[in-house]
Amino acid sequence: HFLSAYRKGYVLCGEKKVAMPTRYADLAESILDLPIRDDDVWVVSHPKTGTTWTQEMVWLIGHDLDYEGAKVNLPARFPFIDHTALFDYRTMDIPMPDLPEFVTDSVGFIDRLAGPRFIKTHLPYQLLPTQLQDPKSKAKMVYVCRNAKDTCVSYYHHCRLLEGYTGDFHDFCELFLAGAVCFGPFWDHVLDFWARRDQPNVLFLTYEQLKQDLAGVIRRTAAFLGKQMTDEQVEQLRQHLSFESMKNNPAVNYEEVIEINRKYNLITEAGSFMRSGTVGNWKGLMSPEQSLRFDKWSQEHLAGTGLQL
Ligand code: A3P
Repeated sequence: HFLSAYRKGYVLCGEKKVAMPTRYADLAESILDLPIRDDDVWVVSHPKTGTTWTQEMVWLIGHDLDYEGAKVNLPARFPFIDHTALFDYRTMDIPMPDLPEFVTDSVGFIDRLAGPRFIKTHLPYQLLPTQLQDPKSKAKMVYVCRNAKDTCVSYYHHCRLLEGYTGDFHDFCELFLAGAVCFGPFWDHVLDFWARRDQPNVLFLTYEQLKQDLAGVIRRTAAFLGKQMTDEQVEQLRQHLSFESMKNNPAVNYEEVIEINRKYNLITEAGSFMRSGTVGNWKGLMSPEQSLRFDKWSQEHLAGTGLQL
């Protein structure tokens, strides 16, 4: 009965049985076969772990702080390869919205892009393009993760705002823990990248680090991307990436998608993409029992890995 609460359903893919949106099946082969280029920069994450935040940082550092260019909508300059919205709209009883090519043909759009390409994905390691999975690949990957409790709460609100989830938080927690929300199981996603954190083409970041020391993360990312930044430039970027600034930046707010959802009554949730932007926000929604269960579950997966979130 959990599945019936999750409008779009999912399919289990790959050896590890990753839960993927049903319509991902149409893209799977072309993503696996995508030719990778040495100057590609990928931002990889489980949903709701700070992807958009990391993308905006990586794009600006990679484009020598081109704040004018950053006024273009983020999905157009940093396309999402496993974008499956087109398939959703086809199955809904609404007029087909006028969608850009990076949505209607995300893989083809990325394949034809002039380099260097900046590409977003939520795919777990085993479903990435085969060439990108090669440890000798020169294409860079910035992976960002977040503690499980805040990720789950953020994902719950996201699914109500953008994915048509109508169930309650209790059911969503059960889905999350069971590895049945899209791109789960959560810990497989995180730990498969953690295991590769020392590869020269991988930078492993956490949402908590971004919150605690954004300037430090900016410097690490610049070094990883082979860019020099002065202290003033770091400070200017830190301000641009603050929650207040991003909340008021229409290029990173996904308002056009939320608007379509509202226009056709596909969602009832109020609110916006930039929601709380804090660490420990789970406290407002999780019961003590749920919190204990998540803690135990996280400890079991993190034991012996050296990863602390
Ligand atoms: P919350 O829902 O907890 O507020 P993603 O981009 O992976 O979907 O992650 C979205 C989460 O990152 C949301 O978390 C969002 O508010 C948060 N976020 C985005 N930009 C941020 C920023 N500049 N500072 C802090 N949090 C940010």
